[in-house]
Amino acid sequence: MFAVYAAEPNPESPLDSLRVGERPDPEVPDGWVTVDVRAGSLNMHDLWTLRGVGIKPDQFPMILGCDGAGVLEDGTEVVIHSVIGDTSFGDETFDPKRSLLTERYQGTFADKVVVPARNVLPKPASLSFGEAACMGTAWLTAYRMLFTRSGIRPGQTMLVQGASGGVSTALVTLGKAAGMRVWVTGRTEEKRALAMSLGADAAFETGARLPERVDAVFETVGKATWAHTMKSVKPGGAVVVSGSTSGPDPSADLQRLFFMQIRVVGSTMGNKEELADLLAFCDLKGLRPAIGAELPMTEAKDGFEQMLAGETAGKIVFTR
Ligand SMILES: NC(=O)c1ccc[n+]([C@@H]2O[C@H](COP(=O)([O-])OP(=O)(O)OC[C@H]3O[C@@H](n4cnc5c(N)ncnc54)[C@H](OP(=O)(O)O)[C@@H]3O)[C@@H](O)[C@H]2O)c1
Repeated sequence: MFAVYAAEPNPESPLDSLRVGERPDPEVPDGWVTVDVRAGSLNMHDLWTLRGVGIKPDQFPMILGCDGAGVLEDGTEVVIHSVIGDTSFGDETFDPKRSLLTERYQGTFADKVVVPARNVLPKPASLSFGEAACMGTAWLTAYRMLFTRSGIRPGQTMLVQGASGGVSTALVTLGKAAGMRVWVTGRTEEKRALAMSLGADAAFETGARLPERVDAVFETVGKATWAHTMKSVKPGGAVVVSGSTSGPDPSADLQRLFFMQIRVVGSTMGNKEELADLLAFCDLKGLRPAIGAELPMTEAKDGFEQMLAGETAGKIVFTR
């Protein structure tokens, strides 16, 4: 079958490992289902996979794509939940052995993907396949950061570090719909304008001093914005972290952390119930993901190049 895959780990030059070609059809274990993929969306996770981060070398070649939407053999239209884990931990994201598609099992950038039967949810009719393909990773991560992990309430102020990325644009849209005052930092005028068009109340240059401290900061950038994040949060406020794109080892700023009684909270993906709630929220409120580029899967390399260069304007979607 047709697939977009990583041939081998390549930390220095990840796109040199990207292949667009043929892979064997998947075998379907008992209790798993086959999804005829209609669309997938690109996540930074796919670039980490090409670099060999979060995947063992013997797992290559690996079909990329942790997000997708498609059709089951009986015609049901579905959204894929990418977290494959044991729910006896109370939440599959807490299973220490849980994995995302593309870490142990093949991903969605292909004609077909196989997943456990519990890992598909009905696609709301209000979302296109391309829009639905944005929900399972970036949007689910944003949903959990905001509604499960942050403790922020409607009327309070949130700061999103990064304006144009998949998780950032989801945070802006969800936060605005839920009644928060949404502030954003972005690296260019164009990216800040995008955030404003999605409903942000104000957009600042990266690192700019804010008019006042905020109730919660949402971090996926890491090293490049961490010092600003720690200075921007109110005493007793929260910093919710789900990524570290620019580097993982910033100074912890421990004195500020304890003196200002800042809560630093990690967050990863979301469980199936959160994905169901996210889909319902989007359906009820008419929310749509910002999609900056929609390309056929055969042209996936262009999308990867855009993400690697930081040229995002919301999600990058691949259609079949
Ligand atoms: N833990 C999880 O479950 C989970 C799930 C999804 C994503 N993530 C992580 O979250 C991060 C973002 O993923 P994504 O898919 O949203 O990526 P993306 O679409 O490529 O977005 C990247 C974002 O990072 C910002 N950024 C990058 N480098 C920066 C720098 N040097 N200074 C300031 N801002 C910078 C960009 O801001 P501008 O708009 O200003 O360019 C943009 O908003 C990745 O590290 C990913 O691994 C984690």
